[in-house]
Amino acid sequence: MNASKSPIIVALVLLAVAAGSASGATITGTPHDLSTKGWGTTELCKFCHTPHLAQAVQGAPLWNHQTTAASYTMYSSATFQGAVTQTQPGPTSKLCLSCHDGTVAVDSFANSGTLRAGSVFMTSTNRVGSGNSLTSDHPIAFTYNAALVAADTHLVSPASTNWVDAASSIPLYGGKMECASCHATHDNTYAKFLRISNAGSALCLKCHLK
Ligand code: HEC
Ligand code: HEC
Ligand code: HEC
Ligand code: HEC
Repeated sequence: MNASKSPIIVALVLLAVAAGSASGATITGTPHDLSTKGWGTTELCKFCHTPHLAQAVQGAPLWNHQTTAASYTMYSSATFQGAVTQTQPGPTSKLCLSCHDGTVAVDSFANSGTLRAGSVFMTSTNRVGSGNSLTSDHPIAFTYNAALVAADTHLVSPASTNWVDAASSIPLYGGKMECASCHATHDNTYAKFLRISNAGSALCLKCHLK
């Protein structure tokens, strides 16, 4: 993740840290645990990551799933100020869409470097980005910074370019808001893989002063 060390070593250290997560949260038994599907491996991480022969994509370390090449129609509205910095989904969000938009098979991951064609597609209830459209979804892939806060006037000021809050629970990716700002891919403690409980819309209120 930084240039000073080998990306592979850094990624392996991160994998080890994630596996022994201090919070005790685990992907086991969540909707992202595909190990019991009978897709040729019972390895939990393999559907998305591999220790060897990984793809050279940004967004997550040691990526092992086929990625979408789609171009998406992004959110817009008369009052959305983030539109000025919004382009296509950022690298992290593209990885989510590579299963969730319904165009790439969920079981199209690699075993020993060879991508399976795959034949199982995202269920309709969990599709996001269907028809390559993100127009009816909360905006992503825009820069959330002091300039945006000044323009909107009803937003929390991000603590840094990496985190909205000082407690490091709501991340930004290169200063941008992405799917994983709201969703914790590996942790279903709060259901729907949410970063924090959204009871009383607490997640929304992490950023919106409403
Ligand atoms: C369903 C797909 C999926 C599975 C299964 C999965 N991951 Fe991930 N992983 C992702 C995505 C997407 C990201 C980037 C977004 C993020 O950081 O959450 C990521 C990021 C990471 C990162 C870097 C960011 C961080 O959280 O430190 C590590 C390390 C990681 N995963 C380890 C693992 C390990 C270990 C397993 C198996 C126990 C696993 N992942 C299973 C999709 C997955
Ligand atoms: C990580 C921070 C964050 C979280 C969490 C978050 N939002 Fe947002 N949201 C933003 C930012 C930043 C914008 C862009 C504001 C702007 O452009 O003026 C935005 C835009 C919006 C917009 C569109 C505004 C427009 O003018 O078109 C709505 C509506 C909205 N959010 C509702 C919600 C709801 C509901 C939730 C909870 C489910 C939520 N947001 C969670 C940061 C967040
Ligand atoms: C390898 C494919 C894959 C990737 C990559 C992936 N998901 Fe999923 N996700 C799934 C599957 C499969 C389900 C369960 C679908 C079902 O059973 O209807 C799911 C379910 C979910 C759910 C619903 C959970 C629930 O409790 O119902 C959310 C939210 C979600 N994913 C968010 C994400 C986000 C955000 C990312 C990227 C950071 C991501 N996913 C990446 C395959 C994936
Ligand atoms: C602003 C926060 C936020 C962002 C950004 C966000 N989500 Fe969600 N997502 C939620 C919340 C909250 C839910 C729970 C359902 C609800 O409240 O309607 C949810 C639900 C889901 C579900 C379950 C199906 C459903 O509609 O309930 C999936 C799958 C999902 N999100 C994937 C994604 C993907 C993929 C992205 C990026 C393209 C994304 N989310 C971006 C907040 C967000």
